Amino acid sequence: MELIDSLNWRYATKKFDPSKKIKPEDLETIKEAIRLTASSYGLQLYKVLVVEDPELREQLKLASWGQPQITDASQLFVFCNYAEVKDQHIDDYIDLKAEVQGLDKEELKDYGNMMKGSMTGLSDAQKSQWTAKQTYIALGNLLTACSLLRIDACPMEGFEAAKYDQILGLTEKGLNTAVIATVGYRSEEDHTQFLKKVRKPSEVLFESI
Ligand SMILES: Cc1cc2nc3c(=O)[nH]c(=O)nc-3n(C[C@H](O)[C@H](O)[C@H](O)COP(=O)(O)O)c2cc1C
Repeated sequence: MELIDSLNWRYATKKFDPSKKIKPEDLETIKEAIRLTASSYGLQLYKVLVVEDPELREQLKLASWGQPQITDASQLFVFCNYAEVKDQHIDDYIDLKAEVQGLDKEELKDYGNMMKGSMTGLSDAQKSQWTAKQTYIALGNLLTACSLLRIDACPMEGFEAAKYDQILGLTEKGLNTAVIATVGYRSEEDHTQFLKKVRKPSEVLFESI
């Protein structure tokens, strides 16, 4: 099966070939897979930066324990969640939904109020955690899309989020760095590609009840 073959093919790439760049149409496919990702209520409370600038990536590498993927990959994706959930975010979603689905905004008012109401019991930290969690679903789609395109990727949490926020000027935009991913093509010298996958057996991971 193509999907399972692709998921077996992929691995968290440790060493990229810096001379190989992703074709623009493949980059668009990866971005579209991220854009089509499911999110809670459909709110998509995050932004995704596609960082190509070499100077910026040198700075970010220093804030990523010096991991070479940051500068050697073709692109660096930075998933940034909104730190707060504002009524405006929900109003914007309702406007978009009304426009796309040809609905009357008034008809959606109760739905918007329900979403706003569901946020009232959450602390600021819980809201930020909730929006950050959504970005991992998009990260998963990036990894799967890349594997189907035979593009290498590395999901990464080994970075200092506060430094990323500062370097990328995120705080003033109400954003936090949640997780990152590097994409490109593996180096022949990356020995990790030859290692067998380590995964729990199905009977341990799953339980039918
Ligand atoms: C959220 C997340 C964060 C990760 N952070 C890093 C990282 O900072 N650096 C790295 O080299 N690999 C990182 N990895 C890769 C994992 O170590 C890897 O996915 C895991 O060992 C399974 O191996 P595989 O992806 O090659 O099958 C991360 C993976 C995930 C999902």
